[in-house]
Amino acid sequence: MSASLLPALRTLLPTATIWDAAELASRDPGFDARNFGAAALVRPTDTGGVAALVKFCAEHGVSLVAQGGRTGLAGGASTSAGQVICDLSGLNRIEEIDPFARVAIVQAGVTLGALQEAAAEHGLDPGIDLAARGSATIGGMVSTNAGGIMAFRNGTMRHRVLGLEAVLPDGRVFCDLTRVLKTSAGYDLKHLFIGAEGTLGIVTRVALRLDPVAGASATALVGVPDAASAQQIVRHFLGSTSARLSAAEILWRNFASFMQRALGYSPGQLPLDAPCLLVLGLGADSMEAARAALEDGLAAIWEEAGIIDGLVASSDAQAAQMWRLREETVEIGRAHPMAPSFDVSVPGGGLDAYVARIEAGLKALDASYAPYVYGHLADGNLHISINCDGPVPHERHQAIEDVLYDGLREAGGSFSAEHGVGLEKREAYERHADPVKRDLARAIKGLIDPNNILNPGKIISTE
Ligand code: LAC
Ligand code: ZN
Repeated sequence: MSASLLPALRTLLPTATIWDAAELASRDPGFDARNFGAAALVRPTDTGGVAALVKFCAEHGVSLVAQGGRTGLAGGASTSAGQVICDLSGLNRIEEIDPFARVAIVQAGVTLGALQEAAAEHGLDPGIDLAARGSATIGGMVSTNAGGIMAFRNGTMRHRVLGLEAVLPDGRVFCDLTRVLKTSAGYDLKHLFIGAEGTLGIVTRVALRLDPVAGASATALVGVPDAASAQQIVRHFLGSTSARLSAAEILWRNFASFMQRALGYSPGQLPLDAPCLLVLGLGADSMEAARAALEDGLAAIWEEAGIIDGLVASSDAQAAQMWRLREETVEIGRAHPMAPSFDVSVPGGGLDAYVARIEAGLKALDASYAPYVYGHLADGNLHISINCDGPVPHERHQAIEDVLYDGLREAGGSFSAEHGVGLEKREAYERHADPVKRDLARAIKGLIDPNNILNPGKIISTE
């Protein structure tokens, strides 16, 4: 888009914030330096504004990239010089929380944290949680089909969405704000927009399920010999009827040691000396009940699971320390700028074999590679960062991907668990996704967005 269109845009959308390229260059682009490469950013304040912006851009042959919290990790929100950013943070209202039906109607730019707080006032919770809760937006989370910490119990974003509204590439509004669980009324097209990373429509409003939240929760850090042992512990707690497991995050030793150093924890501050650490969260009616359930549960399974060490947090501050060890993963990027990072789903009981295989495979590529591995144990979603600065040369990147992705699809796993495809995983998508799925996806994109107005080149290559 040329700067000469900006005055017309300002007239069209008088209440929208509009930044030109110079203004963008002076602002923080979020997790990806490429987010602010566009000609302009426009922040409409309602669905009508988004639709008007999309129509305007379509008429002028300008492509648009929707952005939420700019915390994406696959380059899905990156932009280039001729493009316009549709910033959804102006659509930041929680329109309704119905505590009886347990439904929230929210605009796309509402952050997860804001919704969690508003729902908590009614004893409810969106049932989905992730480390970037303070900045990640509901629209962005829908668009990547985010998963996070509680997916093992409540599913991913796809399973939390009852209905949604999205602006199509021609400016029409697809409106399906269904707020009931059951609808069997033909193709359930809302699912097309979930995980589409803004390539088929710009999500503007969402109807979400809410769940009752436990009165209190307790946290434990448990040292175990391997992931199989951690899974035994998780199965034990999942079988309990008196307490509700709300988190089961795993940290392999290399990651845990790195984080301990990066956060400046003193030796002995937490029980960290084990091949794997498990951060467990448990909800119950009171803090005492939650702590007691964690202690009793761990004692009951201690021998059988071969637990090495464990500590139930005795204060909120100690629980926060445990969580920082898991969640302050920005430290990896600080130590290894743009470290190659991956996000896989490994099915069933295969975690230990998978990690042993990739550690050996990576070492064979480069003797200095010792990956940081951590993730969401209970659904098999592992995050893997290589301990080197990025980006690595293309061939090396591909060799690393071959090690990490080999056999995953055949085993029923996924090369992209919860961060999307964006730009970063397009090649992996070409090489590892089912070819018929890719054909259908391309046909659907061509049907809904024939002029490639919305987020062109993401997920599906345009070359
Ligand atoms: C996490 C992000 C990387 O789980 O998905 O911390
Ligand atoms: Zn994650």
